[in-house]
Amino acid sequence: MSTPNYLIAPSILSANFAKLGEEISNVIASGADWIHFDVMDNHYVPNLTIGPLVCEAIRPVTQAVIDVHLMVKPVDRIIPDFAKAGADVITFHPEGSEHIDRSLSLIRESGCKAGLVFNPGTSLDFMDHVMDKIDVVLLMSVNPGFGGQKFIPQTLVKLADARRRIDAYTAISGREIRLEVDGGVNAGNIAAIAKAGADTFVAGSAVFGAAQESDPHRYDSVIRSLRTALAA
Ligand code: DX5
Ligand code: ZN
Repeated sequence: MSTPNYLIAPSILSANFAKLGEEISNVIASGADWIHFDVMDNHYVPNLTIGPLVCEAIRPVTQAVIDVHLMVKPVDRIIPDFAKAGADVITFHPEGSEHIDRSLSLIRESGCKAGLVFNPGTSLDFMDHVMDKIDVVLLMSVNPGFGGQKFIPQTLVKLADARRRIDAYTAISGREIRLEVDGGVNAGNIAAIAKAGADTFVAGSAVFGAAQESDPHRYDSVIRSLRTALAA
């Protein structure tokens, strides 16, 4: 296998919302790849965050991919709104959709890349019959709803299983699917997570919690430490 193209996706859930535009510019200037955008509805998960208006507001701030993670139920009504607001990737939980195939098609017809998100207790079998409509598989390594939780170690076993399924599909289709992980990722565990098969890493508190002494608004050192751990 060739060297994986690792992507780091800071979750703005842990950013300073009073300075969101600056936080996004700074984290990208510090070397991050994607902006992970956590949408919670106080229904599918017990927390309430940000919606399409905020996505639209940050769109002009960066060229980086905006990776919208929908923790909402139902999902279909809100998908076109995020596409119009400038999302590049939209992922959702199978539990949030009555018709997974339809929701994936809706995302792709709206011009975005589509993905399925698997909670720690959710079976990977949900991806089996829709591989041709998936661009991203996202494994939750915490239960969704809050930043700053501890990485669930069993995710490593599940990542290896997801990697096998994705590689088998890529071998027959020639189409790449990203394997993303979300929750409790930091410089201490990212190497093991990559070894288990992930290529895209969401990190919220680990990135935005790491204020730099030299410049508290830059995240160069934490992004560098994540990349150094990945290179090892
Ligand atoms: C949890 C969210 C995550 C979260 C990650 O429901 O989906 O994206 O913000 O935050 P950390 O990295 O702090 O676990
Ligand atoms: Zn997320």
